[in-house]
Amino acid sequence: MPESREPGRPTLADATRGRILFGGDYNPEQWPEETWHEDVRLMREAGVNSVTLGVFSWAKLEPRPGAREFGWLDRLMDLMHTNGIGVVLATPTSSPPPCMGRLHPETLPRDEDGRTEWWGGRQHFSHSSDTYRRYAAAITEDLAARYGSHPALTMWHINNEYCTYDWGDEAAATFRRWLRQKYGTIDALNEAWGTAFWSQGYDGWHEVLPPRHAHYMKNPTQVLDFKRYTSDMLLECYLAERDIVARHTPHIPVTTNFMPLWVGQDAWRWVEREDVVSVDLYPDPRDPFGAQGGALVQDLTRSQARGPWMLMEQAAGPVNWRGVNHPKARGLNRLWSLQAVARGADAVCYFQWRQSRQGAEKFHSGMVSHAGEHGRTFQEVKQLGAELARIGEEVTGTHSGAGIAILHEWNSWWAGAQDGRLSCEADYPDVLRAWHRALWEAHLTTDFAHPEHDLSAYRLVVVPQLYLLTDAAIDNLVAYVQGGGTLVCGFLTGIADEDDRVREGGIDPRLRKLFGIRTLHEWWPLDAGETAECDGFRGTLWSEEIEADADAVTESVYKGGELDGLPAVLRKGRARYVSTLPEPGALTDLLATVAAEAGVRPVLDGLPARVEAVRRGDLLFLLNHGREPVTVEVPGTHHDLLTGATVTGEVALDRYGVAVLRP
Ligand code: GLA
Repeated sequence: MPESREPGRPTLADATRGRILFGGDYNPEQWPEETWHEDVRLMREAGVNSVTLGVFSWAKLEPRPGAREFGWLDRLMDLMHTNGIGVVLATPTSSPPPCMGRLHPETLPRDEDGRTEWWGGRQHFSHSSDTYRRYAAAITEDLAARYGSHPALTMWHINNEYCTYDWGDEAAATFRRWLRQKYGTIDALNEAWGTAFWSQGYDGWHEVLPPRHAHYMKNPTQVLDFKRYTSDMLLECYLAERDIVARHTPHIPVTTNFMPLWVGQDAWRWVEREDVVSVDLYPDPRDPFGAQGGALVQDLTRSQARGPWMLMEQAAGPVNWRGVNHPKARGLNRLWSLQAVARGADAVCYFQWRQSRQGAEKFHSGMVSHAGEHGRTFQEVKQLGAELARIGEEVTGTHSGAGIAILHEWNSWWAGAQDGRLSCEADYPDVLRAWHRALWEAHLTTDFAHPEHDLSAYRLVVVPQLYLLTDAAIDNLVAYVQGGGTLVCGFLTGIADEDDRVREGGIDPRLRKLFGIRTLHEWWPLDAGETAECDGFRGTLWSEEIEADADAVTESVYKGGELDGLPAVLRKGRARYVSTLPEPGALTDLLATVAAEAGVRPVLDGLPARVEAVRRGDLLFLLNHGREPVTVEVPGTHHDLLTGATVTGEVALDRYGVAVLRP
């Protein structure tokens, strides 16, 4: 697993130049040109220094095959430059113009039932279509040639939220190509996929298909490979466009925006090929754990970027794709934006600048809402812009590190989430969130890492659940503990190998030895809402019938029921195994204890429950996620960069209040 990005490439710092990028997706093609001038006036008023242009402009740029209409974009690029606003220029390739689908139906993807995804929405492109790729390369080439030397250009934004699948015929051909490269022979594929089961053996490559609609459960390794293949195909599309813009403008950084904790891309592989790691983040304003969910994505993105990252999109108010879409209460937009900065963002951007009046997203907020410049949304955006400008110089480029790493990996997620498992209640992202939440509530900042990464810099490594682990990953975990690291590992870890073949004894023998598990007899999954009484806490989701080795210490046992007296938490040296999901408070206590043993301290002692404290470089961010004002004890004297005040001993935070303290 490589751990470094391509050398010599530009970085986010080349775009920020000491300022926090502030702005968002700008879709001026939806508005008459008079509005553009009004937009620029308001952008300047709000301190906007960056807009993303062109994300959905393909039909405007290429209304007929091969035609080019650049005049409007020329005027916009100039307008932005004249007003000191940088442009993150997008390749428009996530939404092809209708003419492409009409003339080349093979560019339209098919779902697993064989239904075509037609134009009229968005993202109706087949990643495998040669024709799509040819058109995408051509428009990218022309954009790069035309705007590569434009002074407004600060960054390239390739496509948008790569997230499509395709089960069609062209995809079937590229799937076979991908599989041939991976396995070499059809016998090797048969072996890896376990096709002896249910008479699935393939006689030749021509018989192999994407996992299309089937009568009953599909071959899990076929499905797993299809997910790997899809991520790789999308990455090929990204790289094809990335290479074009990089050839024209080697000094301009390139990004593509991830969705938060999105299942479809093996993001660890992608981030090696990005100059700037960027993410879109939309916590639900009504979710009591929205701030923690946001923190998780921010921690993951910072870890992927190994430094500052870009919040490419968030909403200034409501989104319009949940069942019920709530606005952000006064101050919440500011709080969550500064939370992202605390956790390493050097860019705070939105979808989108001006709220649309037409189209599917007309009820999705913008920085300028339908209420216009006097509306609360824009007024709060303006205040935030001024504050970000105030702290930008001291914040940008600095790093917020952590002594703890949570291990997270996409292959494991994909393999563990298949049909035919013992419990659909043990949902991977929910389990991941639960462990992150426990650390968050203990005021312990965490990074994320891939299980094959060098973990030696971390004092504590936490594995919420990694159903599939490679041999290299298992050896890495063993070596980490042998090297003095502290490890806490949740259930359903180390069950399967890379082909989703169950390992000997149900859990890999090296891990059983590491944790002191002599035998795994049976898994006893719990129903939704059911709990398992354990010594000191209650477990949820899962329980296990395991027998401990003589040299392992049982720290907690199941009480009552079939598992009475059997280990719930097992420790051998610095390695702990937790065979259930302890209820939230209990998991927080467990991790706080283990972290203290490992020498990792909370950011501040005695913090009120809803106050988050994060260190970034020399700065201490305090964020009050509660609706009541609080006072936080902070030893020493600090300067608050937001208010300019000097504070000694304690800091008062309003509801949703933030302080950014320099010693
Ligand atoms: C995504 C997309 C945007 C927009 C927003 C709405 O993040 O990239 O184009 O659709 O969702 O929340």
